[in-house]
Amino acid sequence: MSLESANVPAADHAHLYGDGLFEGIRIYSRKVFKLDEHLRRLYDGCRFLDFQMSMPVAELKAKILEICAESGVDSGYIRLNVTRGTGLGLDPSHIDPEPNLMIMVTSLALYPPEAYETGLTVVSTSYRVIQSDSLDPRVKCIGRYAANILAKREANQLGAGEGLMLNQQGNVAECTGDNIFIIRDGEIRTPHPSCGILQGITRDTVIRLAREAGLKVTEDTFTSYDIMSSDEAFLTGTAAEVIPMISLDGRPIGDGKPGPISKQLIAKFREETKTGSAF
Ligand SMILES: Cc1ncc(COP(=O)(O)O)c(C=O)c1O
Repeated sequence: MSLESANVPAADHAHLYGDGLFEGIRIYSRKVFKLDEHLRRLYDGCRFLDFQMSMPVAELKAKILEICAESGVDSGYIRLNVTRGTGLGLDPSHIDPEPNLMIMVTSLALYPPEAYETGLTVVSTSYRVIQSDSLDPRVKCIGRYAANILAKREANQLGAGEGLMLNQQGNVAECTGDNIFIIRDGEIRTPHPSCGILQGITRDTVIRLAREAGLKVTEDTFTSYDIMSSDEAFLTGTAAEVIPMISLDGRPIGDGKPGPISKQLIAKFREETKTGSAF
């Protein structure tokens, strides 16, 4: 089915209230990257939000691989949405609880290719990540992204490549669609999940690759000061992949160029993208 002919019920609960979950997943050379990890996060989110997701994970995985094969896309991006169901009104007990599912296979380029060589400039935004006592940020809920879109808009207006979001305590959380890593004296730090981040699958992959390379990685709490006094920094995300960050609010990080450990991890990550679920 073409994208244009696909449709969603007008009273879909994510359409009405943002009451849905999504995953963005990469395809590299006819292999879906980290599909099991994305499905695990999706099903964890369904449990948390209490969606009546009756489709077994193996069936959804098979469906995704089938649609990828039909799409003719060799390298691209999958957008997977699951929503609570259909019906007007907030009360989940008054709606049809059959989740609406969308599997979209498309192409994606988040940042221009040269940004992977030159690095991204980042600015602090005025938007804080949502507090985990309102909605745990590990739940990739569609509705939570309105704040990230406003933060991205603010970064765009300032001419920056990305926008940094702090948490309510003023500690670093993440960028609008990416996790953040900093490096000083050869040691890597990234915000702990309790800082209010989406626990990114790319983040987890990079932590493992760095540790396998003998590098020390700490999941930690830190402020913008720590970013500005780092030797290197980089961002991770399915769409972003691994991309160097070269400044925060006009202050260069290190010498203002992508650093050697960032480059080493980018190379290791690119190797890792050769793995995945083939179709
Ligand atoms: C807010 C936010 N943080 C981090 C990430 C990175 O997560 P992942 O590596 O699982 O794509 C994303 C991307 O989906 C995101 O939207």
